[in-house]
Amino acid sequence: MKTNYIGFLFAATLLLLTACQSGTKRTEADYGIIPFPNQLSPQSGTFTLQGEMNVSLSSDSASVNAFRYLTNSLKNTSIHLQKADEGSKSSIRFITDTTLADEVYLLNISSDQIELSANKSGAGFFYGVQSLLQLMPNEIYSTRPEDKLSTIGLPAVTIADAPRFTHRGAMLDVCRYFMPKEFVLKFIDQMAKLKLNRFHFHLTNDQGWRIEIKKYPRLTEIGSVRKQTLIGNTEYYLPHRYDGKEHKGFYTQEDIKEIVRYASERFITVIPEIEMPGHASAALASYPELSCGLGKTYTVREYGDVFDEVFCPKEHTFEFLQDVLTEVIDLFPSHYIHIGGDECPKKAWKKCAHCQALMKQEGLKSEEELQSWFIHRIEKFVNSKGRDIIGWDEILEGGLAPNATVMSWRGEKGGIEAAKAGHKVIMTPGKYCYLDYYQEDPEFAPLSIGHFLPLDTVYSYNPVPNILSPEEQTYIIGAQGNLWSEYIPDAPDMEYMAFPRLQAIAEIVWTQPTRKNFDRFTQILAKDFVRMDYELINACRNFFEVNFCSAWNKATSAYEVTLKSFYPGAQLYYSLTDSMVTPSTGTLYEAPIKLTKNETLYAIAASKGKALGKVTRKSFVVNLATGCDYTCVPEAGWEHVNKGFGLTDGRLGYPREMRHWVSFYQDTVCITVNMKKPLSVKQVTVASLFRPWSAVWPAREMSVEVSTNGKTYTPVGTKELNPDFTVTEITRFPETVTFPPTQVAYVRLTLLSGGKCPKGYYHEGQQSELAIDEIIIQ
Ligand code: ACM
Ligand code: ZN
Repeated sequence: MKTNYIGFLFAATLLLLTACQSGTKRTEADYGIIPFPNQLSPQSGTFTLQGEMNVSLSSDSASVNAFRYLTNSLKNTSIHLQKADEGSKSSIRFITDTTLADEVYLLNISSDQIELSANKSGAGFFYGVQSLLQLMPNEIYSTRPEDKLSTIGLPAVTIADAPRFTHRGAMLDVCRYFMPKEFVLKFIDQMAKLKLNRFHFHLTNDQGWRIEIKKYPRLTEIGSVRKQTLIGNTEYYLPHRYDGKEHKGFYTQEDIKEIVRYASERFITVIPEIEMPGHASAALASYPELSCGLGKTYTVREYGDVFDEVFCPKEHTFEFLQDVLTEVIDLFPSHYIHIGGDECPKKAWKKCAHCQALMKQEGLKSEEELQSWFIHRIEKFVNSKGRDIIGWDEILEGGLAPNATVMSWRGEKGGIEAAKAGHKVIMTPGKYCYLDYYQEDPEFAPLSIGHFLPLDTVYSYNPVPNILSPEEQTYIIGAQGNLWSEYIPDAPDMEYMAFPRLQAIAEIVWTQPTRKNFDRFTQILAKDFVRMDYELINACRNFFEVNFCSAWNKATSAYEVTLKSFYPGAQLYYSLTDSMVTPSTGTLYEAPIKLTKNETLYAIAASKGKALGKVTRKSFVVNLATGCDYTCVPEAGWEHVNKGFGLTDGRLGYPREMRHWVSFYQDTVCITVNMKKPLSVKQVTVASLFRPWSAVWPAREMSVEVSTNGKTYTPVGTKELNPDFTVTEITRFPETVTFPPTQVAYVRLTLLSGGKCPKGYYHEGQQSELAIDEIIIQ
């Protein structure tokens, strides 16, 4: 392996030298490859593909899959590549080079030949072909007769490429919503184009069991069907609303075999996940005897949450799980079997006589240790079949199973701990890798689970934490993007959430950090969007739109809005009045826009005078408090953006997404705003949030005091607040205290929180959270 890598570097350096001597004008971005190769030297000249051409394949079968994929990808063109007769000469050659490591490929294109070298595993040939295809015009994907290509010019280049990580993954949750097999295959094909090689197939959860298990037919007869599904996010409505429509679906074992075969032809390993001990409602609905008996019967759940019903660690359950895993292992050749392990509440085990007796018998001091005992036992079984387990980072709690690989999702902490203990780690922290989070302004985006993960944040991720020693870092085997589907009901929506963020994931896991470059990435992505259009991928179009950032600029003493677009070199046009703004009617954006009062901005991105996407808009509140310093007693308990000035940042909160809300967990909150100089003030407005499913209750009283010196304060108004709790959805409740105009420099606002969550509501009796978004002083 070492010699191979050195050989690879040597070859790459030679290629680089050759490129420097050739003095070409092409830039890296002209080579539209995602993920970007680790060594690429632009060359001058063009190789032309046309008519019927022979390709000499290596005498072993290593390049057969890749060649088949290549010829099939050219089916919309009039170019036919055929296998050359053994010994005959051809200008396109696939060469097996046994000195190269797995997945490495060398691609050398000059005006008169193409040479692709890789080792016998075939993966390198496949990746070389992916790069080759990305060098071709997007019209190869078009089925319109007028786009049919009869010649293709390939830019000369020398590439020596190898991936950064061995685990380059994407996870699809098909439990919350079943996705048809055809979509799964389409998704796998998209992964292949991005050189991703691990498809994590999340097959069982509370909302559906999606894989046929011959020995336990009720898993799919009962477990794959739910009566109805929640409307909106679990937080939105009170009471919850349901669609009244049955939702069902599962993959037969024949479907699974087809998926596994399809993936393997694309050098993708399918890693199945069978969730245990938690997230087991669908299994328990099918076989209630596997539970601790919290209920007599169980239902396939109609919304996403963490439910108390879990597998009971009794012999019968292990027999069941081992039978299931045996069928799963027979179906999936993957070395790794994912056994879940996340979010397992301990309530049922605490109440269960069997569990408590088992803990005593095994000397287990806590239910966490019982969870660990459970996972150890399953690991032993999986190991006995010659396979290893992957588990979510909760499997660290109570002691890690000896051979387990940890998938770190609650940040990187679990991954770091596991790597330090000498366990393999796959990084997938929510903050960078959860592709079910919003990727554009939540106020206008399709329903999502929440949070915010735009394209550039995904791209910025480095899965190897600096805190690890070089030796510990070698345990990080890769990363993956996760598509949880609680709020992704169908294939088009799944594509919308996946793309183009999956392209960013691909570059994180393939391209070395020193080779990453977001500007180049966006230039290439602009081309890749055209391919996605031809391939009918419903990617999110925020890339072509304007996003708004705003802040108080201390240097200019002004509230400034910055417009940004990911589209490379886009011109941005805006208007303060025209909701239909176009490149010809808008003002060209050249510098941050200064706002002195409440405004709504409308903006559009354009290239060469032509609109790229739709108009986006954002409203800002600008008042005497905007940009002012303030103090909070107690300090804010939760503040996501604009830490320390979130209450005067000119941005209102949107009830469905928490980023612009600032939260407090105490009963009384006192906020003092320092306006720095005496100003005439006559009213103070603040809004608090009603989001009862998360224990967020609106304020019950507000009072305002004012001061000229910040020492002595005069009360100017107190208001008892009576928010209308008959509302049936999450609501933002603004409240205002008005008083005679007065010259003051300080305003002190005291809020009484909603107190304890009232009887009959979720979290009854628990101290509520007070969430406010902005202090508005006029
Ligand atoms: C997870 O997101 N519950 C692994
Ligand atoms: Zn039990």
